[in-house]
Amino acid sequence: MKVLVVGSGGREHALCWALSRSPKVSALYCAPGNPGTAGLGQNLPIASDDLQGLCDFAEAEAVDLTVVGPEAPLCAGIADRFAERGLLVAGPSAAAAQLEGSKVFAKRFMARHAIPTAAFEVVENAEEAAAYLTRNPQALVVKAAGLAAGKGVVVAGTVEEALAAATALLERYGGPLVLEERLEGEEVSVIALCDGERVLLLASSQDHKAAFDGDTGPNTGGMGAYSPAPVLDEALTARVKQEVLLPTVRGMAADGNVFRGVLYAGLMIVKGEPIVLEYNCRFGDPEAQVLLMRLKDDLAELLEAAAKGQLLRESTCWDARPAVCVVMAAEGYPGSYEQGASLSTLQAFEERSQPDDAVVFHSGTCLQEGQLVTKGGRVLGVTALGDDIQSARRRVYELVEPLRWTGAHYRTDIGWRAVEREQ
Ligand code: AMP
Ligand code: GLY
Repeated sequence: MKVLVVGSGGREHALCWALSRSPKVSALYCAPGNPGTAGLGQNLPIASDDLQGLCDFAEAEAVDLTVVGPEAPLCAGIADRFAERGLLVAGPSAAAAQLEGSKVFAKRFMARHAIPTAAFEVVENAEEAAAYLTRNPQALVVKAAGLAAGKGVVVAGTVEEALAAATALLERYGGPLVLEERLEGEEVSVIALCDGERVLLLASSQDHKAAFDGDTGPNTGGMGAYSPAPVLDEALTARVKQEVLLPTVRGMAADGNVFRGVLYAGLMIVKGEPIVLEYNCRFGDPEAQVLLMRLKDDLAELLEAAAKGQLLRESTCWDARPAVCVVMAAEGYPGSYEQGASLSTLQAFEERSQPDDAVVFHSGTCLQEGQLVTKGGRVLGVTALGDDIQSARRRVYELVEPLRWTGAHYRTDIGWRAVEREQ
């Protein structure tokens, strides 16, 4: 089976890592990939937004399955283009990807299909926002409607703050905005494979969006993750499947937007009830890194079954050991950040024999005259397994320490909620 992975971050390195372990995969391509994926397959000089180029390559090389990492090509219709040419893609159509691409679409969809989500209103301008907030002072969460790379949501503390956020988001992204009730609880992510009709739940995970320790500072794409998330016990998992994921896939099909691919539900557990905060139409980054290190099944087989509408399995097989991923970021991230810092310590690490309980996933790295240097905001996703969450965490920081470069910044408390529960 020839497999093409689209994207260039840590998630795509993890996808390539898992796919390269599949005995079914005979050729692996990554477009455009990064120095990490180059060690597992062939990187292609095709950008992830060059839908035509990707389609032409897949057709010419008779690629059997294309796996799309990021949301942008999915929202732009990569799956539709591939389907027109009879090429198999693990990812939803543009219409189905609106679950992530439009918060207005997602909220109205959930309301129509009785899927639990925070009370909300769609507003077009600051006056409407002010009027709604006067009547609903608990609607302190302000969300830009479209894709905003994790930067389009403000959780305000007061009505005044919410109004200021609404004005700022309107200026930056334009309308409409979603205003929604601020919920208190513990967050958890459930990612499932969907074949249009059925859902197959993967293990639970949780990322850390805030830049600094103690969940403080600006939001980022994700500074780390762990799996499983102990807040999601067996009973709650069953409820998430019955009350969230199945109704989502069935509702999408009933609306004529068949969802095939990876469905990510970001949930808040409020007094034991799972409430949907957001959908994504792809694996999370860095959630993929922890999940795929724990997955014991053949990822190629699972994604192929989802793409073909033949997801007949009822369960998946996981390494019982928890995994923790710590993202090492460039100085200044998520603001403007430095590029080109030397990663000679990583190069030295990769030249040694690799541990079997850990992987360093490349996220924002590149080769400059044969030397590895930093390129993106999130540079590395150091990921390790351990007998319990505390050992996984100890192990991961043991690896992080010697990989530091000048200006590297990372959180030192990834997994703190799970550790507290374990204790
Ligand atoms: P979203 O992109 O919609 O998931 O929002 C980003 C982050 O904002 C979430 O991971 C939560 O931490 C927070 N958030 C979103 N919606 C709410 C809400 N209704 N109540 C409290 N926090 C929220
Ligand atoms: N880590 C959050 C996301 O991938 O959306």
